Amino acid sequence: MKIYKLFISLIMVLSLCGCTSKSVTTQEMTQSDSPEKGDLTVIGFSQLGAESDWRSSNTQSMKTTFTEENGYRLIFEDGQQKQANQIMAIRKFIQQEVDYIVLAPVTETGWDTVLREAKDANIPVIIVDRMVDVKDDSLYECWIGSDFKLEGMKMCQWLNDYCKKKGIRGSDLRIVDLQGNIGATAQIGRTRGLSESARKFGWKVLEYVPADFTQTKGREVMKTLLRKYDDINVVYCENDNEALGAIEAIEEAGKVAGPNIRAGEIMVLSFDGINEDARQYVIDNKISCIAECNPLHGPRVKGIIEKLEKGQEPPKLSYVGEDIYAHDKAVESIRVDSIEYPITVLQTK
Ligand code: AHR
Repeated sequence: MKIYKLFISLIMVLSLCGCTSKSVTTQEMTQSDSPEKGDLTVIGFSQLGAESDWRSSNTQSMKTTFTEENGYRLIFEDGQQKQANQIMAIRKFIQQEVDYIVLAPVTETGWDTVLREAKDANIPVIIVDRMVDVKDDSLYECWIGSDFKLEGMKMCQWLNDYCKKKGIRGSDLRIVDLQGNIGATAQIGRTRGLSESARKFGWKVLEYVPADFTQTKGREVMKTLLRKYDDINVVYCENDNEALGAIEAIEEAGKVAGPNIRAGEIMVLSFDGINEDARQYVIDNKISCIAECNPLHGPRVKGIIEKLEKGQEPPKLSYVGEDIYAHDKAVESIRVDSIEYPITVLQTK
């Protein structure tokens, strides 16, 4: 356990005994008790799984940031998509008396008890990527990640503007949504982005089906939907791996993944933009638009920890800025909530 944490515990014991009346700020403590040279800051990282290329990049970003050369020891636990595993990992980190816990939660709810245990053990918790839905937000220090609903709204605004430019009527759209795993912030935000936009623009969403953010499930769900409906003309995939699976299913069914709303062709929309194949598909015009979701949170979390070590207070919620990639040049920028977002066109030079 690091010196300043021992100091915190000592102050707590003294306050409980009534031996001190002064409340001591973290700043005062870290100034006088900075960790010894060579002392590594121990981070327990509970990653939710390895379902997508986004997730692999996210894990990689954490592993290459929290290295011994940078002054850290990273204890990595893969939750394999199960909240119970993540709860177990957090309890293990508490027993190991790590300096910080970083949690990438699989779903939003069900964290109150274990986060209370971490708080009682004086271990700051940083939430990364998806959010937690807890009654008391003092159970975690701060959160950093994407505005998932905004990503969905941006995608839908692009679709609306694209249809206008191409003379496509919104009422002609027949959309299916391959959702992420239900209850994950990325799923909740992106699904809401679509359902609210569909109401606003008068689009028909044939079905919302979970596809768990994986390529295998994306392919399987799209196959089933193609058997059920013969008029799907847009597939809204809640990540790139689902999009790759959906394209396989579209092509296996003898249809084309492409930008036109016409029989036999299906427009593919997606999220993330980290997967090389998916970006290539935008260049090839098989995926029409990707709303970026940036996974490179390692250096951002490190910045937060550095602030906390100096006794500074990081913002409770930090949203990362993200791009939109499209093949077609017709839409140069979109507006969502009066903010203008430029479109990055991906084509072969
Ligand atoms: O929470 C972020 C989402 O989770 C990414 O969009 C997806 O690819 C990942 O699995």
